[in-house]
Amino acid sequence: MVWHYDGPSRRGRSSCRGRPSNPRWLARCLIPRTLVPSRPGGATAPQIERLSSAPSRLEFARDVAAGLSDVPRWLPSRFLYDARGSALFEEICRLPEYYPTRTESAILAAHAEALAEITGPVTLVELGSGSAVKTHHLLRAYGAALHRVHYVSIDVSEAALADAAERIVTQHPAVRVTSVVGRYEEAFQLFGRYSPCLVLFLGSTIGNLNHAESMVFWDRVAEHLAPGDFFLLGVDLVKDPQVLERAYNDAAGVSAEFTRNVFRRMNRELDAGLDLDAIEHVARYNAAWQRIEISARFRNGQAVRIAPLETTIDIGAGEMVMTEISRKFEVRRLVNYVACFGLAARAIYTDPRRWFGVLLLQRKEES
Ligand code: TRP
Repeated sequence: MVWHYDGPSRRGRSSCRGRPSNPRWLARCLIPRTLVPSRPGGATAPQIERLSSAPSRLEFARDVAAGLSDVPRWLPSRFLYDARGSALFEEICRLPEYYPTRTESAILAAHAEALAEITGPVTLVELGSGSAVKTHHLLRAYGAALHRVHYVSIDVSEAALADAAERIVTQHPAVRVTSVVGRYEEAFQLFGRYSPCLVLFLGSTIGNLNHAESMVFWDRVAEHLAPGDFFLLGVDLVKDPQVLERAYNDAAGVSAEFTRNVFRRMNRELDAGLDLDAIEHVARYNAAWQRIEISARFRNGQAVRIAPLETTIDIGAGEMVMTEISRKFEVRRLVNYVACFGLAARAIYTDPRRWFGVLLLQRKEES
């Protein structure tokens, strides 16, 4: 689903490419051809485009049944993010132990102008934007540099998108917002429509993909970006395991509640009948795999009912169900890795402790 603040200007696209300093270019690319009538207060009214609907109860049932029947048992992490899950994750981002969000935000604040300078005029397309708090630094810088900026935000949470769009149009008059409800895997098809673009993939969400998923992801990105298009990647870096483990085991117990949330959802949507108090959150750093592994440990044996499939899965006392991985990166290796998919690093930013990295990548010309 998409809220359009007005339609993208497609026509200027091909003639715009490669001529970022020509003022006519700016006029064609950035000034919308059709202006949607203004609402009181100056902001333009939201419109909607839908890529996919929320996963059905049956799809949830099937994926849960498959994951819980696998070895080791696991659950797809996208089911963590229902309305309550998204709100819990926002809360995680504000925890004192969870440094990634504020570290990335500080990096973006410090280098937003430099980024706008390097990319020139582009449409900003954000994947998995959530509440888009960090994006404000970029919108401020692009707004100042370009007069008119188009921001396209894609997320599974309709509530988060609506909130973010509302805040953005009030705070950044130069920005028009298009909000897309969908999974980021479905968003690749939009890149061509919004080229020249800067795709934002922040919050180290790339770290939540396993090896195979990651290959598919970068292959699709490379396929759908036009040569010259940009990709801004935020990644959590390898560091002291204690710092990492603290970030995923906060004292207030919000991370634990976030992990339990998927089981709460199973109770609600699948009639699973689980005793949530007997499910523990476990987050450990696996140094060989450079990743945090987040699991739920069943303190007691429980029978998980999956009502839509009329089936039950027995989980024994002490068994674990993996709910998320969060890979940590080394900049040099990552730069080599993305180069395999035709993406060149144009700029690399980090914080003084080198805890988090922001990489500006650019799709190379076809050779
Ligand atoms: N994308 C987040 C990350 O990798 C996900 C996350 C943060 C998470 N804390 C969590 C997932 C706690 C489950 C439990 O950092």
